[in-house]
Amino acid sequence: MTTKTEFVHRFEPAPTGKAGATLLLLHGTGGNENDLLPVGRAVAPDAALLSPRGRVLENGMPRFFRRLAEGVFDQEDLVARTHELADFVADAAKRHGFDPAHVVAVGFSNGANIAASMMLLRPEVLAGAVLLRPMVPFEPKTPPDLRGRRALVAAGKADPIVRPEQSERLAVILREAGADVTLHWSPGGHMLDRADLAAAAAWWRDFA
Ligand code: MLT
Repeated sequence: MTTKTEFVHRFEPAPTGKAGATLLLLHGTGGNENDLLPVGRAVAPDAALLSPRGRVLENGMPRFFRRLAEGVFDQEDLVARTHELADFVADAAKRHGFDPAHVVAVGFSNGANIAASMMLLRPEVLAGAVLLRPMVPFEPKTPPDLRGRRALVAAGKADPIVRPEQSERLAVILREAGADVTLHWSPGGHMLDRADLAAAAAWWRDFA
């Protein structure tokens, strides 16, 4: 028996009222469920939006899993929280009436890291993912089957938190698992810029 874990979250149905894709919006460290709603709407104007708040607090800042230091993840917690979030998405699909086969994550920083972890551990939950400034969450022991799934890895050349090799390695891991991966480089740092959003919107138009 599984225990349902509740996340504080926002859900916005598709503006057209037509069933279609749902974006799973995953904020960065210190963010909340409101942060990425405008990004989600800009990237995919017709999609429904599901935006949970991370349940881990680091000095009062919400996150999706624990870390031991900057870029050093508590792997046990990451695995448990990834499953918890995946189960929440499946449950939210029933509750809010969206199609669980058409969920695409849009995650920033810590949110991108748990989205990447979900692609690797629970590939059935996500049809695709927009990973904004992600790291490699872990090296998978057995590659998942990501054939037919798509990902955008949006990296910053001057990112002081994510080294370029991390973005490149994540793209390789996802590709080797069969995903169709676009690696987009912005000249900036860890913060998003207009070019990232334009790349995400273009990726979405191709995807949808
Ligand atoms: C993480 O902890 O997931 C990454 O270091 C990115 C961050 O949230 O700063």
